[in-house]
Amino acid sequence: MEYTAAVITISDKGARGEREDTSGPALVDFLKEKGWNPIYRAIVADEKEDIKKELIKCADELKAGLILTTGGTGFTKRDVTPEASLEVIERLTPGIPEAMRAKSMEITDKACLSRSVAGIRDESLIVNLPGSKKAALENIEAVINPIKHGVDMIRSEGSNDCAG
Ligand code: MTE
Repeated sequence: MEYTAAVITISDKGARGEREDTSGPALVDFLKEKGWNPIYRAIVADEKEDIKKELIKCADELKAGLILTTGGTGFTKRDVTPEASLEVIERLTPGIPEAMRAKSMEITDKACLSRSVAGIRDESLIVNLPGSKKAALENIEAVINPIKHGVDMIRSEGSNDCAG
């Protein structure tokens, strides 16, 4: 089975070309190392409708197995990535952000300030990550291995053997 992935950077400054996107390329490299095939990358502003459009495109048109967003999970008024994600997610997968925050709290107590959510839309798993390259990599590192099994389950018919 091919493990395809999309990476969406969410940043006002990145979208305007005022800040270099280092998190997106770092996530693409990380995914390749872990055996995923990154098929799509985009940068969008912190606008709920624009974020939703990208998520829907990646899930419904490109049918990416995994869709990572980076940025917009904090507390500023412009941080709307979780709200945009919740409007397109059909089934929540709370264990993923729980695990990312738990692992990240061992690195920095500011990890609890990420409002990231994750969930399934059709046959795609959407996972929010914080915006900085360091934070994005620390978060995804905590869950990338079990996520492969999750994506297998999403695509399987009916019950799935979880042994091992
Ligand atoms: N998680 C890890 N592992 N490492 C970090 O440095 N930074 C935190 C948090 N999660 C951080 C982290 C901080 S300071 C913030 S404000 C939130 O992620 C939200 O980041 P965002 O607004 O860039 O999405």
